[in-house]
Amino acid sequence: MSVIGVLTAGGDCPGLNAVIRGIVARAEERDAEVLGIKNGWEGLMNGQTVSLDRDAVRGILTRGGTILGTSRMDPYVHGDGYASCERTIKANGIDSLIVIGGDGTLRSALKLSEEGLPVVGVPKTIDNDICGTDVTFGFDTAVSIATDAIDRLATTAESHNRVIVVEVMGRTKGWIATYAGIAGGADAIIVPEYEYDIDDIVDTLHQRHRKGIKYSIVVVAEGVSPPPGYEPAEHKKDAFGFDRLGGVGYLIAAAIEDRTGFEARVSVLGHVQRGGSPSAFDRVLATRLGVAAADRAIDGESGVMVALRSMDIESVPLSEAVDSVRGVPEELFRTAATFFG
Ligand code: F6P
Repeated sequence: MSVIGVLTAGGDCPGLNAVIRGIVARAEERDAEVLGIKNGWEGLMNGQTVSLDRDAVRGILTRGGTILGTSRMDPYVHGDGYASCERTIKANGIDSLIVIGGDGTLRSALKLSEEGLPVVGVPKTIDNDICGTDVTFGFDTAVSIATDAIDRLATTAESHNRVIVVEVMGRTKGWIATYAGIAGGADAIIVPEYEYDIDDIVDTLHQRHRKGIKYSIVVVAEGVSPPPGYEPAEHKKDAFGFDRLGGVGYLIAAAIEDRTGFEARVSVLGHVQRGGSPSAFDRVLATRLGVAAADRAIDGESGVMVALRSMDIESVPLSEAVDSVRGVPEELFRTAATFFG
């Protein structure tokens, strides 16, 4: 009987449990065994495992987070790659590893496969910035949460004649900001992949005021640069070495208030976008990816990632997924910008 190891690494994401459940159900159907690895790569390096059968994953489809736990540890940052994982792999007779993670995690998955371990990747991030797949699970849920927040903030902004800056997640790409901004009717959207001029944003807000509309919603991705002259506090680093982002919305609001005199408030949505139950779309996508990943692992594929292409789940080379980070296309951002002001 073949043994599949499965781990979730990096930031959590609604739908992770649905993937795990999909893997276990299909593996059981095909007489394979699933070994859960706890706390991401850390568990693979330290031998933290748990046996997963159909009963162990009952009831988790609708639950946010990951029953396996996650971490920002990485075998190529905190260890010696395959050598750091070998003991756990050998001791548990793991034939193939399914790695559910974002671009950093998938990069390490690719390296492990190049060192000879059979690995199948499953793309995961609310940021929707992984190449090779049309969309990542978790994104739809995060956009719904952010859109609901914008709807609520718009009514209070209108009552008080305020500008509200809504800061959403998006480290290097502004998918959540763009989608939630379009869905929530944002008056301006600022994303990392397109330069902005704070004076253009200010002009937009002034135009609204001249028309008698005295409130505005400005959606900002957390990864954008602050306006010139507004320096961010130094960010703490996470275990992977990334900046712990959050707070640029305050600098943008300050610049707006300084230039216009309009009262500008800020709402940083933060981890609320990542928590809780996945949307129906994400449950279905995550389930399909989990089932497909189990099939690929049992069939002996390696160095691939399962991905949504059009309406189908396909295998794509992991190298394609980690080649670059996928940004918001210009046409989509132009569509959003049509509604600014
Ligand atoms: O990569 C997903 C993400 O949600 C980013 O948008 C965000 O910058 C990061 O994770 C936050 O991670 P953590 O919870 O580790 O601070």
